[in-house]
Amino acid sequence: MPIVGGVGQAEWARDLAEDLLATALPRRWAHTQGVAQRAASLTPVLGEETDTLIAAAYLHDIGYAPNLVETGFHPLDGARYLRDVIKADDRLCRLVAHHSCAVNEALNRNLFEALTSEFDEERPELVEALTYCDMTTGPDGIHLDVTERLAEIHSRYGPEHLVSRSITTSTPCILAAVRSVEAALSARA
Ligand SMILES: [Fe+2]
Repeated sequence: MPIVGGVGQAEWARDLAEDLLATALPRRWAHTQGVAQRAASLTPVLGEETDTLIAAAYLHDIGYAPNLVETGFHPLDGARYLRDVIKADDRLCRLVAHHSCAVNEALNRNLFEALTSEFDEERPELVEALTYCDMTTGPDGIHLDVTERLAEIHSRYGPEHLVSRSITTSTPCILAAVRSVEAALSARA
C-alpha cells in the first residue's frame, strides 16, 4: 500500500525496510509504517521534499534489523548500511544517522565522534520533521502525543537503561522539534 503515488524514493525505501524488518521485527515494522504515515501528513509543510521524508521514515530504524547490527547503535548501523551496502542518497543516510536527536545517545555510547565525523546533519527542517514523526508514533504505529511517546520509551526500557537516559537528555531537542513542526503545520492550516 504505497502512501503516496508517483515516482520517488518512498516506495523503494518501503520495500527495503519491509524486507529488513517485517518478518524479523514485526512490531518495529508496524512502528515504521506509522512513522511513514506521519511523514506523508507533512506535505503541506514540505511539499516535494515529503518524498525524501517518507523514505527516511521507512529507513530510520533499519539499524535494528538483526543482520545488519554492528555497533548496536541503530542510527549509526542503519546509516552505514545505507551508505556502504545500499549506496543510498546522502540525505537519507544523514537523516537516519541523526534521527530523533541521536547525538545524545551517541555520546552515551562513546560513538559521538564516529556519528558526527561520518554523517553531517541534514537541513534542520527535515531533521525536525523526522524527529516529529518518530516521536509522535508509538511502538505499534499508533499516533501518540509526544509526552505519551516519551513516557512509553521510559517505561519500555526502564529508568536505568542507556536509551532512557539518552531520551532524558534529548527531551528538550525532541520537544523543540515537535513544537517547530506543529507551528509550521498550523501556519499552513
Ligand atoms: Fe530509531
